[in-house]
Amino acid sequence: MTAKTALITGITGQDGSYLSELLLDKGYTVHGVVRRASTFNTCRIDHLYRDPHDPDTRLFLHYGDLTDGSRMACLLDQVQPDEVYNLAAQSHVRVSFDEPEFTGDTTALGTTRLLEAIRMTGLPCRYYQASSSEMFGATPPPQHESTPFHPRSPYGVAKLYAYWITRNYREAYGLYAVNGILFNHESPRRGPTFVTRKVATAATRIKAGLQDVLYLGNLDARRDWGYAAEYVEAMWLMLQQEDPDDYVVATGTSYSVRDFVEYSFAHLDLDWRDHVRFDKRYLRPAEVDDLVGDASKAEQVLGWRPRVRAPELARLMVDAELNALSRNTGPTVPAVPSPAHTLASH
Ligand code: NAP
Ligand code: GDD
Repeated sequence: MTAKTALITGITGQDGSYLSELLLDKGYTVHGVVRRASTFNTCRIDHLYRDPHDPDTRLFLHYGDLTDGSRMACLLDQVQPDEVYNLAAQSHVRVSFDEPEFTGDTTALGTTRLLEAIRMTGLPCRYYQASSSEMFGATPPPQHESTPFHPRSPYGVAKLYAYWITRNYREAYGLYAVNGILFNHESPRRGPTFVTRKVATAATRIKAGLQDVLYLGNLDARRDWGYAAEYVEAMWLMLQQEDPDDYVVATGTSYSVRDFVEYSFAHLDLDWRDHVRFDKRYLRPAEVDDLVGDASKAEQVLGWRPRVRAPELARLMVDAELNALSRNTGPTVPAVPSPAHTLASH
């Protein structure tokens, strides 16, 4: 157990929820940055909520936004974290073509705002940047730490800026700042418009007779899909090393979208060809065809290894959807008190 304090941006996202669980288990006090919304957006971390009046509470939430640098500086000063995990981003590749300017503001410049806030407050904290395999884009696999970058979307370009500004603050100011270059990682908590979750949800609903058809875009794209709950462990390990460095985190395996669809439907004894239809609106103006990560550095230095691969991931996600359907609730929405109450009182 540790008495360390962590600050997580993007705590309400898929990875933020798994990372919070991991750090709380390790004894950390965890502070999360939550965007103000007109509806409650904390469903992925509701199960971690404890009444803030309880002296044993170690999870605290604060309103904030990566587009607001002075707020980030205030929060750092208030929280005095040992570790900062920057997971916040406009993270949807297709959406980044529709909203390139907002994506750049949040995903690229937001990183500079946070790093600059750390530099200005002079905190001796360690910094994790959520970099992405999208930065490799058109460069053929396998991709590793020294593979040339060739991003194919406004999101990929914004992440590449964030990657380099992180390295720049490490080199220029001696900040302990690392890039985790994570390949696709999924879970039952994945956002519903990413392809794996969209497929798991639809296949389960088709099996239950709630819908007939699933519309998808490019089935030929290949991805290196891992399990999010395992990937947050790699994030933490990166910040426990003596020296800051950058690491690829991946399974080293590649499957097509079609493969993932087939595994998901087959798990329900369905033939996907009877239900999946093409809709061009899900195509991207430029596609990333093939991602396969070489994570041997993470294995050698961090001792990190993946266990779950795409076929098992598909089954695991479908099982979670079946379970949620039988309880008539989303898999990420447990019926417990909400930390939104804490925020509502601010
Ligand atoms: P996610 O589920 O989309 O979560 C993104 C988080 O960022 C959410 O908490 C979101 O808040 C928050 N956010 C968005 N804009 C913000 C802003 N302007 N200010 C503050 N917070 C903001 O993403 P994820 O899958 O957990 O991924 C975590 C990070 O890793 C992201 O940076 C993503 O780009 C990167 N990444 C993901 C993968 C992957 O396969 N999952 C792979 C490589 C890298 P709301 O809940 O309010 O929307
Ligand atoms: N979302 C979506 N919806 N994707 C589809 C669909 C569809 O209906 N049909 C086919 N696809 C294809 C996309 O064209 C892409 O090639 C692949 O499925 C995966 O799409 P997403 O699940 O949206 O993920 P992504 O690979 O674009 O981006 C994710 O992984 C990145 C790491 O490589 C996101 O999590 C990014 O934030 C992350 O950085």
